[in-house]
Amino acid sequence: MATPKIRSELRFLLNGEDVALRDIRPDETLLDYLRLRRSLRGTKEGCAEGDCGACTVLLGKLAAGKLVYESVNACIRFLGSLDGCHVVTVEHLRGEGGNLHPVQQAMVDFHASQCGFCTPGFVMSLYGLWMRSPDPSDAAIEKALQGNLCRCTGYEAIVRAARAISSYGRSAKDPLALERKHVTARLAALRDGMRVDIASGGKRLIVPASLDDFAALLEKEPSAVVVAGSTDVGLWVTKQMRDISPAVFIGGLDELRAISEEKGVITIGAGVTYSEAFPMLAKRIPALGRLVDRIGGEQVRNMGTIGGNIANGSPIGDTPPPLIALGATLTLRKGSKRRTMSLEAFFIAYGKQDRRPGEFVEAVHVPMPAKNAHFAVHKVSKRRDEDITATLGAFHLALAKDGTVGAIRIAYGGMAATPKRALAVEAALLGKPWTEATVEAALGAYDSDFTPLTDMRATAQYRSLAAKNLLRRFFAETSGIKSPLTVTRPEAA
Ligand SMILES: Cc1cc2nc3c(=O)[nH]c(=O)nc-3n(C[C@H](O)[C@H](O)[C@H](O)COP(=O)(O)OP(=O)(O)OC[C@H]3O[C@@H](n4cnc5c(N)ncnc54)[C@H](O)[C@@H]3O)c2cc1C
Ligand code: FES
Ligand code: FES
Repeated sequence: MATPKIRSELRFLLNGEDVALRDIRPDETLLDYLRLRRSLRGTKEGCAEGDCGACTVLLGKLAAGKLVYESVNACIRFLGSLDGCHVVTVEHLRGEGGNLHPVQQAMVDFHASQCGFCTPGFVMSLYGLWMRSPDPSDAAIEKALQGNLCRCTGYEAIVRAARAISSYGRSAKDPLALERKHVTARLAALRDGMRVDIASGGKRLIVPASLDDFAALLEKEPSAVVVAGSTDVGLWVTKQMRDISPAVFIGGLDELRAISEEKGVITIGAGVTYSEAFPMLAKRIPALGRLVDRIGGEQVRNMGTIGGNIANGSPIGDTPPPLIALGATLTLRKGSKRRTMSLEAFFIAYGKQDRRPGEFVEAVHVPMPAKNAHFAVHKVSKRRDEDITATLGAFHLALAKDGTVGAIRIAYGGMAATPKRALAVEAALLGKPWTEATVEAALGAYDSDFTPLTDMRATAQYRSLAAKNLLRRFFAETSGIKSPLTVTRPEAA
């Protein structure tokens, strides 16, 4: 393909202003830019790892020509990912006649702020929610605030404020809503089809012009670091001080952001975020939708991609086990060449995936479970929300007409060095009657499949027991048993 035109300037909107930057490094975060270069200190730094939400800002981007605003964590969002976006910080909130904004006034009146450190982050998350859903349900409020931590208020006051925002003003009259047309036009104008290539301080960042451009770039520079949502790569920088130059930012590539269904297979582009995937998954594979809702907080789901979750090869990534249980395949691309492989085969060993130099993950293809099949995924973590998995089990079962196990795929996370199928357990179940006795007899096979580790999330003993209990739970669910079967507690060490 012909090389696209190149510009050495990153362009985006910040509140009401056009920004053009030439002197930026690939590892410069939006949070540092706001606080250190622009003195916009309303956006706070708490954890610098996407957990606390103190750094929450809204990010406006064009999706299929429509302007959407999402909450994101500025601490792990790199400037390089912002080309053609609108960044909205708490300083941009304006009430009528210089008064507080409705979200802020509700927070004050309901005593939803004490030390105040978390408050701008909560305000921005609630602002994003109120803009798209002026009278949200309690469940929607809880979901929008999963990624905001407060040490002082106990949350009740914040939730009460969230319920009341609409009585302080109408979202349709909000300045950001009134600016919509104007901002949409400005963002569209920023999309000039050029590649961004910036070298500064001996480091380099690239924003490809298109998917083909990305493929060509990576083939030529296979050591470049691919950055999608940066919810993993962000921490390489903020926690491990790793050098990510040269970095290629792919989060804005529309061609990677498509999700579609054809002939019973859902194809998810590698750049589809959890939030973008949620509506389709919740409708078509509800168990997967529920799992997606438990990944990170809303800000992380607005940034993180399923492609990144697969490509990073983590043994505790939440999506690979259920996708393996469903028999998903992966399209990998290098230059103009593509190959498709089973997702299961992609994970070779700890930190090692079947991804060749210059190759990238283009899409994952997920077969829908058959109508009469049972599919479930259960995540065990210390907290329900915004926590990393200790162990996660995914189960996909088709019963034969005579009630025996006709087909079964079981895969776990957190039990081995990679996401892994429980092949010995599957073999112990296959062809047998789907009964409690069969399940109990198959539990012994777990020790051939897995030798889990002890770490800060769980002991090996806990993981083994939890994994077995998840199979028991799956049996109970598929047999119409409401309460779990015998749940054995781990013995004291
Ligand atoms: C606060 C917090 C909570 C989290 N909670 C969870 C959780 O509950 N469950 C969970 O599973 N994960 C969780 N994560 C981890 C993270 O969100 C996921 O792994 C996410 O899916 C990574 O996607 P990303 O787009 O952000 O990837 P990035 O950070 O952009 O990239 C991750 C890795 O994949 C590579 N990569 C990305 N896209 C491609 C591609 N298309 N082709 C080739 N390589 C690529 C990158 O080079 C990098 O090695 C959490 C992270 C944070 C910060
Ligand atoms: S500073 Fe805690 S999420 Fe960003
Ligand atoms: S008010 Fe103190 S952390 Fe939330």
